[in-house]
Amino acid sequence: MDAADVDADLTNTLFTEEQIQSRLGELAKQIEADYEGEDLLIVGVLRGAVMVMADLARSFNRHVEMDWMAVSSYGSGTKSSGVVRILKDLDTDISGRHVLIVDEIIDTGLTLSWLTSNLNSRNPASVTICTLLRKPEAVRMDVDVKYVGWDIANEFVVGYGLDYHEKYRNLRSIGTLAPHVYA
Ligand code: IMP
Ligand code: MG
Repeated sequence: MDAADVDADLTNTLFTEEQIQSRLGELAKQIEADYEGEDLLIVGVLRGAVMVMADLARSFNRHVEMDWMAVSSYGSGTKSSGVVRILKDLDTDISGRHVLIVDEIIDTGLTLSWLTSNLNSRNPASVTICTLLRKPEAVRMDVDVKYVGWDIANEFVVGYGLDYHEKYRNLRSIGTLAPHVYA
């Protein structure tokens, strides 16, 4: 789905498909350099990180293992509920391994700070975070996000995995949701 297909629901396009691919390529290069000679397991946070995982993983010129976790911290609206639950755990034993958590957006930082300490309790060699987008509140939180695609304003955005009531995930670009959609 393209922005034109949901034109009336978006106030603007923040990042086009091309911009996203190019930024992910840059992040992949940086990650490759940082993990040179090391084994690497990338962990996608379902469901929003599916697109980022697919495109980031394919940008690497090296092997990476992929696993998935599903956690819930949001209800179906636009505000964090503050509660984190594991809905699907890793299938991989991460002890002694380098883990890179891949997410599409960090907002309050609650989900990723909880997830980082949860994974750290499993004796991995390291746990770092890569997120495509980061909102201002997360910058204030004590979450060490090593790889960030872009810092964005505190607005509700959709597309490229990001949803509102399970819609817009399949939008190719990322746009700001028009307030009339959730008002
Ligand atoms: P946090 O725990 O507040 O950092 O929330 C992280 C999760 O909230 C993300 O993985 C998204 O699923 C969801 N989220 C936060 N902001 C947005 C947004 O602007 N659009 C869609 N989902 C969002
Ligand atoms: Mg997410």
